[in-house]
Order: sequence, then structure tokens, then C-alpha cells
Amino acid sequence: MKRELKISAIKNGTVIDHITPGKAFEVARILGLEDFSAPISIAVNVSSGKSGTKDIIKVENRELSKDEVNRISLVAPNATVNIVKGYEVAKKKKVEIPSEIVDILPCSNANCITHFEPVKTKFQLEGTSPMRIRCYYCERVLTEEDIKREIAKED
Ligand code: CTP
Ligand code: ZN
Repeated sequence: MKRELKISAIKNGTVIDHITPGKAFEVARILGLEDFSAPISIAVNVSSGKSGTKDIIKVENRELSKDEVNRISLVAPNATVNIVKGYEVAKKKKVEIPSEIVDILPCSNANCITHFEPVKTKFQLEGTSPMRIRCYYCERVLTEEDIKREIAKED
């Protein structure tokens, strides 16, 4: 007998699929999902295809903006974003990592000017696997672990 956990299909909204296993919490954090009032389902480490696993986030009644979709790429570069309308997938797109990451993450360098002046943080993409970004102002490189730490800190 086939036994598996399934989260229900949604009628309208956004399904963020193929999230790197275990990264759904960081995606939720970077999108600020804790402040959404819409119903949200999160599935972690569910089976995906023949062998692998993935995380999934379903946000009902809400279409994510392009900016929100780009944020996801920082922690889940392989994710796909599906816009669901009337139970059908109306649009499917892969997230894209922007070459400049603006106003999304604080800089890990406590002495960075971005902590003292009212400027938007800005990082240049240096690599994707593993993820590496470099602060435009102080040149500090943030690794995947640094990014994870900054997301956890953000309020
Ligand atoms: N989904 C959903 N509610 C719907 C329609 C789809 O929650 N009404 C979810 C599916 O469960 C899946 C994702 O949205 O996780 C994408 O759906 P679909 O394109 O139908 O699945 P696949 O073809 O398997 O997608 P892919 O090729 O991107 O893996
Ligand atoms: Zn900096």
C-alpha cells in the first residue's frame, strides 16, 4: 500500500516548489511569511520524483511579486514558483538569482557603512554553488552560512 503525506491542492495562490530540502524555513523567513494573514502550508523533506526530496510552500490567495520571487533564489536557487488560478497552474517560473542583491540582507560586517548611513544594502553575486555574495560597500564576502545567519537575525 502506498502511504504518503500530501498537502492539498490550492484553489488560488502561489506554490513554491522544488525548494532545496530543509530550506523552507529560510524561504519563509526571507519572504516574511510570518506576517501574512493568508493560509500557508509548508512541507519539508517530502519525496520528489524517483529518489530526491524537496520542500514546498503554498501561499493561498496571494501572487508573489517578482521581487519576492528573486529573494527566494538566495536560499533556494532551484525553486520553481507556480501561480495557481482556479486549481490550475496558470504560470510556472524558475527563480532567478539577481546579479545585484539590493535591500534584502544586512551586511555581516558590523563596521560596514550600511549600518551607520541610511543606504540600502547591496551585494554583488560572486558564485552560486556554493552561494557567495560580496558587499558593494565594504567588500565583505557572505557565504551560504553567513546568509543563513543574517536571515535568522532579520526582523
Ligand atoms: N499545485 C497545488 N495546487 C494546485 C495545482 C498545483 O498545490 N491547484 C502544486 C502541485 O502539487 C505541485 C506544484 O503546484 O507541487 C506544481 O504543479 P504542477 O505543475 O501540476 O506539477 P508538476 O508538473 O509536477 O511540476 P514540475 O514540473 O514543476 O515539477
Ligand atoms: Zn558591508
